[in-house]
Amino acid sequence: MELAPSILSADFAILKEQIREVEETGVRMIHLDVMDGHFVPNMTFGAVLVKSIRRYTDLIFDVHLMIDHPDRYIEDFVKAGADIITVHIECESDIDECIDMIHSYGIKAGIAVNPDTDIMLAEKYLGKTDMVLVMSVHPGFGGQTYVSDVESKIKYLRELSGVDFDIEIDGGISAENIAHVSDIGVDIVVTGSAVFNGDITGSVKALYEAAGEKL
Ligand code: DX5
Ligand code: ZN
Repeated sequence: MELAPSILSADFAILKEQIREVEETGVRMIHLDVMDGHFVPNMTFGAVLVKSIRRYTDLIFDVHLMIDHPDRYIEDFVKAGADIITVHIECESDIDECIDMIHSYGIKAGIAVNPDTDIMLAEKYLGKTDMVLVMSVHPGFGGQTYVSDVESKIKYLRELSGVDFDIEIDGGISAENIAHVSDIGVDIVVTGSAVFNGDITGSVKALYEAAGEKL
């Protein structure tokens, strides 16, 4: 299991230091939540910030685009240093085109599915996506309560034959439920508030210990 701390809950005034602390724990990936104030009722940051932090870390940049028109910004995020770009299947852009565009830059493409979205709507993209991000909260804010209903989607994805994409879960994961989430078969666990709302190093260790895994 890979932990992907989301900087959404970080202290942006000392972001460089906080990302360094995450990296020093041994975590390999960081999750970057991009919000446009349209697709979700919140705004965060764009490619400018991603480019700035790219200079200070070798962590895998897992960019989660919660925006209406990801196709217009994919190139910017690639140039800024994204390693994985995930688009929501509920967005306005053509998903096939987004996946092809992301792949044309030689990086990984993911698709994200909101809690209320039927996983069958993602079926036609499963053969070409590198990752499926199952949202376990309604996107837009950190610190929300985990929606366990979405576990049926993970079970469905896990039971597909010939599955060669990673399953990522995002939202409401803490030391309380990470063992359970790990047991149902996710590859990547996003955690925002459970990492950044306190001692980062201690929180990352506690999450791995709770999951019964080592970094
Ligand atoms: C929510 C974001 C999540 C968020 C998770 O829209 O996609 O990545 O940062 O935060 P927590 O772990 O606090 O639920
Ligand atoms: Zn996210």
